[in-house]
Amino acid sequence: MIKGVNRTPTQASVSLKSATVKQAHISEKELAETSLASMSLPVSQSNSENMHTTVLLEEAVHALAIKPSGIYVDATFGRGGHSKKILEKLDGNGRLIAFDRDLSALESSKSIQDQRFLMVHSHFAAMQTRLAELGVSQVDGILLDLGISSPQIDDASRGFSFRYDAPLDMRMDQSSGQTVAEFLSHTTEQHLAEVIKNYGEERFAKQIARAIITERNDGRPITTTGELAKIVASTVTRFEPGQNPATRTFQALRIYVNQELEELALTMPQCLALLAPQGRLAVISFHSLEDRIVKQFVRDQANRDDLPPNFPVRAADLPQPKLKGVGKTIKPSAKEVKANPRSRSAVLRVAERTEVV
Ligand SMILES: C[S@@+](CC[C@H](N)C(=O)[O-])C[C@H]1O[C@@H](n2cnc3c(N)ncnc32)[C@H](O)[C@@H]1O
Repeated sequence: MIKGVNRTPTQASVSLKSATVKQAHISEKELAETSLASMSLPVSQSNSENMHTTVLLEEAVHALAIKPSGIYVDATFGRGGHSKKILEKLDGNGRLIAFDRDLSALESSKSIQDQRFLMVHSHFAAMQTRLAELGVSQVDGILLDLGISSPQIDDASRGFSFRYDAPLDMRMDQSSGQTVAEFLSHTTEQHLAEVIKNYGEERFAKQIARAIITERNDGRPITTTGELAKIVASTVTRFEPGQNPATRTFQALRIYVNQELEELALTMPQCLALLAPQGRLAVISFHSLEDRIVKQFVRDQANRDDLPPNFPVRAADLPQPKLKGVGKTIKPSAKEVKANPRSRSAVLRVAERTEVV
């Protein structure tokens, strides 16, 4: 088993300014099911089930068009739902290398005792480096099932949820990076407002940031989910019916401390570089910001027909595309959403590597 480096990528590659979030990974309705009144459960009473219902299981694995003796990457192991399905499709020569930056995902991967399987503890933006260390420079398919898993949100001690009063952490990788509490201890009011606005689409971002910084500067640092949720609730005067006022702020801070968009933007070109001809890339996104990065990347790599009419070079004379989009976006069926409401904002995009070098 390989323990990956705990380096996090640079912050710069995705502009905060262009960010808008339309859908949350764990749906807002679902998070809102528990009101602030019932939020302060002690950690010991939390639902710490180690369960994750895999989203778009059949569809995503089918999209990889698996060659039984191929090499595949599951970049987001979680609880291994997709990984196990991929392994079922591989023969004795096939190989699956899985990544996750969460230590509990790493622990859970130990249940898979299979010579063809290797688990790597790393953020996926280090994928190419980690694979090179394993002597792998080309793979036949890569799957990314983005965002957080149910065990992460359901384990109160991780600090992802305002349903429980717990230390304000929210790191996917418990072994590195700054917690939300640490971020709030040193950020500026302006930066905080930008994070909350751009990653949470929160119209009260400025007021929330001001309230948080005022508390901190008055000698009351925000160190628990309960404290944060209370401050937000006292600031947000209008929110969607049934929605917890803290939903958007929690989402924004989670995306920020985990550098979720930077990770994705850094990983897309690596997937392109790693895929063998006809190799497939399948990405499941859970909010519009992620999906936009994937869509744009595939479009930029695939399209040669977006040139202006009087562009002085013929499309055929330009370097040929290295990726082609496969089919339309795939969303969970009504049946899946009913069975697993957390799947409802999922969007699967699939692309295939062409022969062009
Ligand atoms: C939605 S869950 C994946 C669930 C998985 N497909 C299954 O069926 O169990 C996403 C997982 O990806 C991991 N993850 C998210 N971003 C990551 C990143 N940048 N690098 C590595 N792992 C990441 C999270 O820790 C989480 O375990």
